[in-house]
Amino acid sequence: MTHVGLDIGTNYTKATKDGKEVKIFPSLVAYGEEKDWSLTGESKDVYVGEEALTIIQSMENVEALRPLHEGRLIHKSYIELAKHALEILKVKPEVVATGLPVKSSRKEREELAADIKSKLGIDVLVFPEPVGTLAYMGIDTGVCIDIGFGTTDMLVLSGMEYLKGDTMLVGVDWLFDNIDVIVRNKVGINITPEELTNLVIDENYEIGRIRSGKRITVKHSDIEEDYRRLVKVWVERIANRIKLMLEGLSTAIVDNMVITGGGALLPGVKNEFEDAFREITEIKTPDRPIEANALGYYKLAEAIVKSSVKSEAQEIKEDKEDEKKKKGKKK
Ligand SMILES: Nc1ncnc2c1ncn2[C@@H]1O[C@H](COP(=O)(O)OP(=O)(O)OP(=O)(O)O)[C@@H](O)[C@H]1O
Ligand SMILES: [Mg+2]
Repeated sequence: MTHVGLDIGTNYTKATKDGKEVKIFPSLVAYGEEKDWSLTGESKDVYVGEEALTIIQSMENVEALRPLHEGRLIHKSYIELAKHALEILKVKPEVVATGLPVKSSRKEREELAADIKSKLGIDVLVFPEPVGTLAYMGIDTGVCIDIGFGTTDMLVLSGMEYLKGDTMLVGVDWLFDNIDVIVRNKVGINITPEELTNLVIDENYEIGRIRSGKRITVKHSDIEEDYRRLVKVWVERIANRIKLMLEGLSTAIVDNMVITGGGALLPGVKNEFEDAFREITEIKTPDRPIEANALGYYKLAEAIVKSSVKSEAQEIKEDKEDEKKKKGKKK
């Protein structure tokens, strides 16, 4: 039985069919108007992922949608993202394992599963997002903080059982919105989240725009100081909320404390977390923070599929034994 791990994030969708390689594309769906001419013989009106990103930058009258916003599923376009993920993975699975923010509603989870089942004919398993990373790391008791683009999800597991969790509407977007305002005030240009990511992670990156007949540039060094200051404030806010959640918990649970998601990869973030939790525990990160949830969902699906195949096999075996017994009695 084939299965897929699928992590539809606010910013990126990640998917794997083998628990090793992960395909990543922007969680973006664009609906275009039908064009007068089609020179490629195609007349598409839905664009997904990288293609959607290109199309919204080059075409007017295109509506671009991100199905997840502030931790809520606001649009059914996640079906397009799921379909696209399966297309690029070249797979038709029986089961898709995916995640939603910890504080998503039961109704949202049921709707997502029912929708994928009815439109794509695939069974769906839905997990609270950070569980994916813990499963990927083989941790069944611990705390996981998933710092995504739109939300920061936190979760406490004990023996693979959900103890408590929370979703904060403060993700990387909070940090980037603040830097965006600073850049706009300084040099009067807007920059995209993709450009900002490059600007903060790459010391040699430079953004250039033509403004009023002049060349305007923003370099890594122009924002470095503000970035460091904002990261401190940002991590402190998140850490305070986590500390509230940890209050009263056994130290055995906190021994495994993991930060994951793209936010955990941004410069200085792990250091700030280490400082904030110095008195409590060490901070761990998976080797692939952006992909870890998808890889973990895959692993969880594998275990569940295996155990259900096992229990089916056991049932068949028991049925056969029952039959044998009945036949034996008849004789
Ligand atoms: N090397 C990198 N490549 C891409 N993004 C990176 C990198 N390092 C850090 N990031 C940041 O990670 C963010 C995306 O993180 P992630 O994929 O975990 O979010 P998401 O899952 O889409 O959002 P959410 O979980 O809130 O729905 C990007 O916005 C980017 O700023
Ligand atoms: Mg995420």
